Amino acid sequence: MASHPATFSTGQSPAAAVDALNVADDAQTIGALPDDVVMETVNLNVFYGDFHAVHDVNLSFGKNEITAMIGPSGCGKSTVLRCLNRMNDLVPSARVEGSINYHGQNIYAPKVDPIAVREHIGMVFQKPNPFPKSIYDNIAYGPRVIGMKVDNMDDVVEEALRGAALWDEVKDKLKQSAYGLSGGQQQRLCIARTIATKPDVILMDEPCSALDPIATSKVEDLMLQMRKDYTIIVVTHNMQQAARVSDRTAFFTARPDETTGNRTGLLVEFDRTKDIFANPHDPRTEAYISGRFG
Ligand SMILES: Nc1ncnc2c1ncn2[C@@H]1O[C@H](COP(=O)(O)OP(=O)(O)OP(=O)(O)O)[C@@H](O)[C@H]1O
Ligand SMILES: [Mg+2]
Repeated sequence: MASHPATFSTGQSPAAAVDALNVADDAQTIGALPDDVVMETVNLNVFYGDFHAVHDVNLSFGKNEITAMIGPSGCGKSTVLRCLNRMNDLVPSARVEGSINYHGQNIYAPKVDPIAVREHIGMVFQKPNPFPKSIYDNIAYGPRVIGMKVDNMDDVVEEALRGAALWDEVKDKLKQSAYGLSGGQQQRLCIARTIATKPDVILMDEPCSALDPIATSKVEDLMLQMRKDYTIIVVTHNMQQAARVSDRTAFFTARPDETTGNRTGLLVEFDRTKDIFANPHDPRTEAYISGRFG
């Protein structure tokens, strides 16, 4: 592995800083893998039309673990995350190669129904996006739509809101519009909405980026509580957040394609979070987590 330069000139763009490291393209390092793998990507490549957005990602997600995906803007974190529940199917130009196995089954196999995939693998987005409905109906919507067998919807709503640490704040105004909640409450409502349909895996794309530090801390506490019941995969730009909440971290970067110059994302290093932050193997990881670029 190449040694990294001692200094970077100030004002250097993140992309230039990564290139300056000049490490081998095949430096992807996979550390200790989880014992109980819920999902894995196998040689995942993603294209938008002719653009090769993500190159050969191999990642394993452990049961009841929180995995963080970090890396500079445009390196393909959201693209990979969206592939994990076939959300990229909704982008007409997107094409996926390789496989993503969920409990051993390839979710891209021809007969797999993407809607069914999303019932098992839920998603929380960057910006809280409650429906224009009451707090109650935001939660009840999912179970109704998927025809979940429910004895008492009130219990389902309460359980989901308790599970998202929101019940005490909203129990007296369940019939009020979700839009009346604060941003942090709306994000926890979206988490409650996701868990109401009892998924197994929850994908979160920068779930705290629109929240203030107090709301962020509540969502992080919630993620740590939820870990006992769910497998969580979270994209974050907040390094402290990755260090605080995650068990494992995947660091991505992007490098220019030799022929087109387009920047293709790749996984650089995947390991236990404490090892990624204390003892990164790849100089690109070290440069990123020490704040020297990105
Ligand atoms: N719908 C799309 N159509 C075409 N190109 C796309 C689309 N979505 C993403 N891309 C491209 O794919 C690459 C990876 O984007 P992606 O959004 O996955 O990056 P990211 O790591 O999540 O970045 P950020 O940290 O800024 O959210 C980028 O070059 C982006 O422009
Ligand atoms: Mg993104």
